[in-house]
Amino acid sequence: MKKAVVITGCSSGIGRATALHLARLGYTVFATVRKEEDADSLRREAGQAELVPVCPLDLTRPGDIAAALDTIGRELYGRGFEGLYALVNNAGAGGIAPVELLDPSLLRRELETRLVGPVALIQGLLPRLRRGGGRILWITTPALLPLPFIASIHVPDFGANGLIRTLDVELRPWRIPNIMIRCGGIRTAAVERSKRDLEESFRSWPPDRLALYTERLRREQREHAAFDRKRTAPEKVAETIAKTLAARRPKRRYRVGHMSGAAAFFEAFPQRFVDFVMSRRS
Ligand SMILES: NC(=O)c1ccc[n+]([C@@H]2O[C@H](COP(=O)([O-])OP(=O)(O)OC[C@H]3O[C@@H](n4cnc5c(N)ncnc54)[C@H](OP(=O)(O)O)[C@@H]3O)[C@@H](O)[C@H]2O)c1
Repeated sequence: MKKAVVITGCSSGIGRATALHLARLGYTVFATVRKEEDADSLRREAGQAELVPVCPLDLTRPGDIAAALDTIGRELYGRGFEGLYALVNNAGAGGIAPVELLDPSLLRRELETRLVGPVALIQGLLPRLRRGGGRILWITTPALLPLPFIASIHVPDFGANGLIRTLDVELRPWRIPNIMIRCGGIRTAAVERSKRDLEESFRSWPPDRLALYTERLRREQREHAAFDRKRTAPEKVAETIAKTLAARRPKRRYRVGHMSGAAAFFEAFPQRFVDFVMSRRS
């Protein structure tokens, strides 16, 4: 029986690789993007596979979310689907900055993209997920660690963790699991983009405040260069997601990508110890 899946943030990286992989496996994929050129590119690459771009969906815009829900509902009905089999919450961006210099509007945007928008989407899709025996997947970082200078990524992640676990409890009567796909270092456009944005920030942050952090930020950059060379291809995440969708009784957490195991191992230590080690590291 055909199954329909919604994935957010499919213009590049993990979202795009997953949309194409699942469509080729025979799922009907509703792939959300923000720009029409990304919708066209997905259509072209998917070829005969059933990949339906939903555009525009910017998760910070309630109007986009309402329109996307209408489109998905109409397209599901038109294709004869009773319900929806899965939602994959993937969209997200963020950047590198000490909290002292972090642009509050970037943090606000990420909280909207990673928490508020997905809640609105889930509220709209739940009746269909109930009918479809559905599951909700969340792309997250590999572990809840206070890594310095990436609060715009990790703070929404800590929030998402609370949301995922709460939803998992609340939706238990309908057996709609909320599953984390905890990703280590994945080779996507986000990596080079955040490096470029950081160089731009070096030019725009107030020099006296920046001077307080320059040395630690540059050290982090050097360490990241080695890490970046070992990043895992996004197709590996797509394969993990396919496995999660195929599992009759999925686990609540899957791990994939460079250093995801080490991060999860470290997270298991007492929080005070973890925070102490992180503060020494930076
Ligand atoms: N790469 C890693 O190592 C890694 C590790 C752990 C977790 N993750 C998470 O994986 C997810 C995907 O990241 P990626 O590495 O694949 O990066 P990516 O290639 O930059 O993809 C991010 C996707 O999210 C979309 N997006 C960003 N803000 C959005 C918004 N407000 N509304 C709707 N869509 C939005 C982007 O659309 P546009 O093209 O229009 O900007 C793009 O399609 C993110 O949530 C990220 O935090 C990544």
